[in-house]
Amino acid sequence: MTPPFNLRAGLKLWRGLFFKPEPFISDPTKSEQWNRGKYIVEGPAHCAACHTPRNHLGARKTDLALTGADRLPDGGSSPAITSEYLKQNGWTVSSLSYALQSGLMPDGDVFGGSMGEVVRDGTAYLSKQDRDAIAIYLLEGNE
Ligand code: HEC
Repeated sequence: MTPPFNLRAGLKLWRGLFFKPEPFISDPTKSEQWNRGKYIVEGPAHCAACHTPRNHLGARKTDLALTGADRLPDGGSSPAITSEYLKQNGWTVSSLSYALQSGLMPDGDVFGGSMGEVVRDGTAYLSKQDRDAIAIYLLEGNE
C-alpha cells in the first residue's frame, strides 16, 4: 500500500501542473443547483483533472470530457462519470451525493485509488447542498 502522504504530494503536484482556473459562465436554461454543480465540478473540485483524458501534451480533450482517463500520476486510471455512464451504473442523485461524503458506493464497495483521497481530503468536507449539486450536474449532464 502506498503511504497516504506520498499520494497527497502526488495529487498536489498534479494539480499544480495541470489545473488552470477558467472563468465560469452560468447557463440560464438550467437550475441554480445544476449551475452550482457545474461550477464545483469544473472549478474547485477538479473532477475533470482525473476523469477527462489528455492528449500527449497534457491538455484535456474537451470533446471527451469526463469519459475517464488512464495514466493518472499514481499509475491508475479513472472510469467515465458522464451522465450516460453514471445512469447505466445505477447511480442516483442521492447515492452519488452520499458516496462523495462517505466514499461508499451503492454496491457496498468503497472508492479505490486516488478517488478515496478525493473524498477523504475534499468532497467529504462539502455541504450536503454542494454534494447534491455535483450529483445533479453530473447525472443531468450537459444536454
Ligand atoms: C485524483 C484523481 C481523481 C479526481 C480529482 C476525481 N476522481 Fe473520481 N475517480 C478516480 C479514480 C481513480 C476512480 C476509480 C476508483 C476505483 O477504482 O475504485 C474514480 C471513480 C469515481 C466514480 C465511480 C464511477 C463508477 O461508477 O465506477 C465517481 C462517481 C467519481 N469518481 C466521481 C468524481 C467526482 C464527482 C469528482 C470531483 C469531485 C472526482 N471523481 C474527482 C480519480 C479521481
